[in-house]
Amino acid sequence: MKKELIKLVETDITTLAVDAIVNAANSSLLGGGGVDGAIHRAAGPELLAECRTLDGCPTGEAKITKGYRLPARFVIHTVGPIWRGGKHEEPQLLAACYRSTFKIVQARHLETIAFPAISTGAYGFPGKEAARIAVRETLMAAEQLPFLQQVIFVCFNPDTREAYEEALQ
Ligand code: AR6
Repeated sequence: MKKELIKLVETDITTLAVDAIVNAANSSLLGGGGVDGAIHRAAGPELLAECRTLDGCPTGEAKITKGYRLPARFVIHTVGPIWRGGKHEEPQLLAACYRSTFKIVQARHLETIAFPAISTGAYGFPGKEAARIAVRETLMAAEQLPFLQQVIFVCFNPDTREAYEEALQ
């Protein structure tokens, strides 16, 4: 495993010129607050128009669109679980978001991808457990993805960075 595969970056995900950025969307795929709102604002109205054709997305699954006015070529929209105490399959569903996203990465042969900390904002998933799941699923997927060169975990706040640093230990 290439150790330099994973990188932690403190930035707005909409500024990244990668093959794909991941959107922490809701099941309507029609926009919202947080990173979803930022991505739609930066990508422009064409993104919403394409999203309207997708018929939503169930929790744990993912769908791809173009990036439009973003520097990223594609947006992979995935729907994280809403935290309801941890006994409603939230960890499994969050892991499924990463697996669904990496399936698209494989199908499209994407080389560089950036993730926000899915579900850890409005959806309330504890950051440390979310970071452990993100790192575990990324390392597992990477074994099957020889063309994958860079996975960026965007740390929008210091707590998120700390959670990923701990998970990478
Ligand atoms: N770049 C990178 N990360 C960001 C950005 C940004 N521009 N903005 C926020 N974050 P959230 P969720 C971080 O709430 O918990 C939306 O309304 C943020 O600090 O965006 O999956 C959707 O439509 C946090 O660490 O997503 C859904 O309804 C992380 O992104 C719902 O929120 C995720 O926070 C999804 O909730």
